[in-house]
Parts: sequence; structure tokens; C-alpha cells
Amino acid sequence: METKREQWGTRFGFIMAAAGSAVGLGNIWRFPYLTGANGGGAFILIYLGFIFLIGSTVMLAEFTVGRMTQKAAVGAYKSVSRNWTFAGVMGVLSAFLIMGFYPVVGGWATAYILKSVTGLLSDSAAIGDAFGAFISAPIQPLLWTVLFMLFNIFIVIRGVGKGIEMASKVLMPLLIILLLSVAGYGLTLPGAQEGIRFLFVPDFSAVTGNTFLSALGQAFFSLSLGMGCMVTYGSYLPKDSKLPSSAGVVTVMDTFFAILAGVAIFPALFAFGMEPAVGPGLVFVVVPQIFARMGFIGPVLSLVFFVALMIAALTSSVSLLEVVVAYLMDEKKWQRSKAVIATGLVMLVLCSLASLSLGIWSGWTIPGLGVGFFDFFDILTDKVFLAIGGLFLAVFAGFQLKKEDLYRELTNHGETTFPLFDAWYFLLKFIVPVAIGIVAIFGLLDIEQPVLMITGLVIIGLLALFSKKL
Ligand code: PFF
Repeated sequence: METKREQWGTRFGFIMAAAGSAVGLGNIWRFPYLTGANGGGAFILIYLGFIFLIGSTVMLAEFTVGRMTQKAAVGAYKSVSRNWTFAGVMGVLSAFLIMGFYPVVGGWATAYILKSVTGLLSDSAAIGDAFGAFISAPIQPLLWTVLFMLFNIFIVIRGVGKGIEMASKVLMPLLIILLLSVAGYGLTLPGAQEGIRFLFVPDFSAVTGNTFLSALGQAFFSLSLGMGCMVTYGSYLPKDSKLPSSAGVVTVMDTFFAILAGVAIFPALFAFGMEPAVGPGLVFVVVPQIFARMGFIGPVLSLVFFVALMIAALTSSVSLLEVVVAYLMDEKKWQRSKAVIATGLVMLVLCSLASLSLGIWSGWTIPGLGVGFFDFFDILTDKVFLAIGGLFLAVFAGFQLKKEDLYRELTNHGETTFPLFDAWYFLLKFIVPVAIGIVAIFGLLDIEQPVLMITGLVIIGLLALFSKKL
């Protein structure tokens, strides 16, 4: 017997859940260090261009495809044409791969909540080494990852409305308050303007082809696009909810949080004369070092910051877990609880590989690829699968679906209007595919890991050949 599809309870709840998915480690961990490494304002400008032209267009397309088909990633494509199944399967694969490293970082954030108030900040010079020692230990980071995964399982097992929506409605407003307090304090420090200048005055000298690929990958990653996540969330929308304004609000909120994270970090960073371009260790090394110099308020702000980071990560990782769970429920008719537990366990195995690849296996790389598991999962999804997944979705919606059907879905069968429809459709059908194509070529010419890129393309090719039955 078909049970009725789960739905979001309210529009506010849906927006919080979708924004919760979008706002995550991508905003608070990755965006600041990419900005730091790519010259600040120039990177942000390119990123904003991608977010508003390509990101918001693809997000609206994902919501539309999801609600129209009432199916999650794989089913949405499959219900239109079996030839497209592979694009959905690629999304489910991306969810597994991202969940192969994301909860590891979520686990670090959870650990740092406790570490903030148990002596981490007492010796600023030792913070870098302490982080290195922590993430490369075999057991401790894994236990935090397990704890973080348990939070995920607990939320997703309760379902769409009572689990994901309820958690997002509480956690997202809390996240705003927490981050605003850290940013507000940073802005009061003497010398903070330097950080604002770094964020908002572009310097194009650090820009290369790879900067564009990083900015595009980051735009997709940050908005949770290109892997069926927003298709899945869209499939739980009631037929009378307004899609265009929801996509607009979620895009703006995600961007707001990325900039807010920048404002929470860079003014204080410059005020204390620290280096912006340190890479992935930025929020776990430089940020605690800043807090360590603040006196008694330091541990409090550090605690607030890492609670915010953990919350942001959690509302995103539940959406990644949900992509796989929804696939198993829709296509394989599994019970939610069975799907959540089985998927969670597989993800934990991947996380163990990723975590160990930073520690006792750090000298070892996957043969032929030159990177360990953590980087493999990260680079493959961020630099290859998400942008290409977005390209597939745009081509699918633009060329496989009928324009009238899209129009009808977007206007709730004529109940509402969408004056920008023609512009959106043009962007979706022509600009998005061409732009992603150009950036991919530029990126490939300027690439650091050619073998990894080719591996990604081969995997996509294999999926196209063999995934029809999934
Ligand atoms: N958008 C999340 C972030 O910025 O951290 C990560 C993410 C979630 C990516 C869900 C993709 C996804 F489907």
C-alpha cells in the first residue's frame, strides 16, 4: 500500500529546513578559508555572480522538479525518462561521498565546543599543534564523528516534519543570534576595518582559472545544489507553496550567512595581525588563537562560535542523509528507520576512512590519485560532481521537461504569477550550461589534480552506462 508522502508543515518550516541545508560548514568553515586563500574581495565578487546568476536559477529548478514529480533525486529523473536515472544516482553517490567527510568536520566542531572551555585557549602558541594532534589521532576524532552522526540519525529518523523541520525551526534562529554576537564583538576591536577592507575591496591579482572553478564549486556546495538535495526537499512541498520566492529567500539567506561568517572572522583576524591565507585550518587554528588573545571573553565567544559551527553543520548533514534515505524509501520501499540506520552506518565507515587518512594513514594515498580519502571525497564532489550535477539538472529541466509544464508548476497552475519566468528559463536552458562548461574547461586547463578530475568523469560515464536499473 502506498502511504501518503510526508510534507513540510509550514512555509516557515520549509524555508528554515532548506536554509538549514544550505547554511553549513560550506559557509562558516570553507567560505572563509577559500576567501582567505583567493585574495578576499575578488573571490567574493566572482562567487556572488555565480550565486545569483547560476545558483538561484538551479535552486528554483530543483524545487520545481521535486514538487512536480513528488519524488526524490533518483525518482524525479526516472519518472520522466529512464535515460536520466544516472543523474539522480550521481546525486545519491555525491551524498554518500560528502557524508564521508562532512561529519568528520562536524565532529571536530562538536569537540571544540568542549575544548573551548577546557583549556584549549590557555596557550595560544600551542593551538595549531593541538589541532594537528587532535585530528590525526586514531580514536578521539572518530568518537566525536560518531556522536555527531547520532544527532543526525536522531533527527532524520523522526521524519520530515517532526524531525528535520522541527530541528531547523529551533536551530536556525539560534544560529543567527550566535553568529551575530561573534561578528558584533569582532567589529568593535581596534584595527577591524582592515578585515572589512579585505572582504569587500577586490584585488584581482590572486585570480586564476582555478579561482573560478573554486567559486563555482563553492556556490553549488554552499547552496546544496547539483545532487538532488533541493529536489528532495522540494518533493515534500505542498502544491500551493510559492516556489520562486522560496528559492530567492534561501539563496539570500545562504549568502548572508557566508558574509556574516566572514565578518565574524576577518576583522578580528586582522585586528590581531594574523594571516588570512592558511587554508582548511582557519576556523580550527587561527580563530581559536584570536579568541585566546581576547582575555576572559575569549572562551565564551569560542564556545558560542563552535556551537554555531556545529549547528550549521548538523542542519546540513541531515539533508545529505535525507537524500539517500528518501531514495531508499521512494525507490526501494524501505521503512524510514531501516533506511536511516543502514545509511548512517555506511556513512560512518566512509568517515572512518576519511578521518584515518588525516592521521595514521596520512602518508598513504589512493594508488594513482595522489590524495587520501578525506581529500578524495571532498575534491571529487566539490570540484566535479556538484557542478556537473547542476549542469545535468539544468539540461534536464530545460530540454527534457516541457516549458508549459514548468510554467504551470511554477505558477501553481495559474494561481500565482512569476513575471521573471522567461528570464529564468533562458538562464536555465542556455546560460547555466554554457557557463558551467566554460568554467569547467578553464578549471581543467589550470588544474592541480588532473587524474582526479578524469576519475570523476569516468565514474559519471560508468553511471550513465550501468545505473538504469537503480
Ligand atoms: N550546503 C552545505 C554547506 O554549505 O555546508 C553542504 C551541502 C548540504 C552540500 C547538502 C550539498 C547538499 F546536498
